[in-house]
Amino acid sequence: MRRSTAGISRSEAALRLGDCRNFHDFRELARRRLPGPIFHYIDGGADDETTLERNTAGFERCDLVPDVLAGVAQVDLSVTVMGQKLALPFYCSPTALQRLFHYSGERAVAAAAAKFGTMFGVSSLGTVGVEELRRGYPGTPQCYQFYFHKDRGLNRAMLQRAKEAGVQVLMLTVDSITGGNRERDLRTGFSIPFRLTIGGMLEFALKPMWGLNYVTHERFRLPQLEEHVDFRGDTLSIGRYFTEMLDPSLSWKDVEEMIGQWNGPFCLKGVMSVADARRAADIGCAGIVLSNHGGRQLDGSRAAFDQLAEVVDAVGGRIDVMMDGGVQRGTHILKALSLGAKAVGIGRAYLFPLAAAGQAGVERALGRLKDELERGMKLMGRRSVAELSRANLRFR
Ligand code: FNR
Ligand code: LAC
Repeated sequence: MRRSTAGISRSEAALRLGDCRNFHDFRELARRRLPGPIFHYIDGGADDETTLERNTAGFERCDLVPDVLAGVAQVDLSVTVMGQKLALPFYCSPTALQRLFHYSGERAVAAAAAKFGTMFGVSSLGTVGVEELRRGYPGTPQCYQFYFHKDRGLNRAMLQRAKEAGVQVLMLTVDSITGGNRERDLRTGFSIPFRLTIGGMLEFALKPMWGLNYVTHERFRLPQLEEHVDFRGDTLSIGRYFTEMLDPSLSWKDVEEMIGQWNGPFCLKGVMSVADARRAADIGCAGIVLSNHGGRQLDGSRAAFDQLAEVVDAVGGRIDVMMDGGVQRGTHILKALSLGAKAVGIGRAYLFPLAAAGQAGVERALGRLKDELERGMKLMGRRSVAELSRANLRFR
């Protein structure tokens, strides 16, 4: 349930970036600035959006039990995951099509993530070239998120490109061998490569600033794909892209081969079962992200937060276990770290700020999550992420 805060309904109050104090404020500002089809592409989930809601609700069933009089003056939020040192224990999960949300797109997110010293996941459906993002922020923690296409030559070419761009960590998304049923996108006709359809024109006419930015900035493109994939002038819903372009026969053997080819830290995103987590560790993955893709793929999936303890107990000593899904507050991150997550991914929590205000929006959101986490650690009586544990959690 998305609540207004302090009893002031957002629909009444004027809203500027400086008024945004939490996820819901950023989401409302993004809603006001984005054409409907694009807002719903970000906001929506699969089927009845049960898992979308469940992802955040999972955190609310977990209570924090603070230790007081611990004299915590300074907090160290740094962590090391998959061989990369992060100044924060949360990072920007890979998300597609960012220049649709704000014309600066991945350039804004990469800059903001670098400023906070945390990891940025570059999506293979990104709208700024992985080479530019690596060149622009050398040495900062980044990973390249990869989709395994039916065209094996395409897979090899994309991996080679990422390696030559200097990407260290490869993150293979494994929960998307077919498209989730995104009924909001079907209703709005949202598709890629993005086309301003006549039908959608009214929606865009209602958001003239977005439209002006869209037509006055660099042409929308999918640089990771355009050399390899010919959309034949066609437009595809994301679901159709998954179903028509990605390889449903992707197997553990394929993954093992990719790990050998990549020859660097390799991560599987979208693992949820203990058995799969064990297999990922057995074949040499450096990390896994417990994720249901933000509730956008298999509706009815368990929340990654609810699955976390079981997986950490099974493989936490062998592989870096991360999670994403539903994170909206610093205390959500605190709870996941206490359960044993090595780091926590955020998606919409930086996408709505991006849509609302570009790099300034993402920086404000990362800064507020950092402050919330720091405050929570101090009130919990903990000086570092390593000091967090399940001893200070209780579940309803
Ligand atoms: C995503 N996500 C995603 N994941 C991925 O592996 N590759 C991708 O290109 C995308 N694209 C994408 C676009 C949008 C608009 C959203 C909202 C999400 C999933 C993302 O990495 C992450 O798993 C979820 O966003 C986490 O859930 P929250 O934090 O958004 O609730
Ligand atoms: C999505 C895909 C692009 O969730 O991962 O929209």
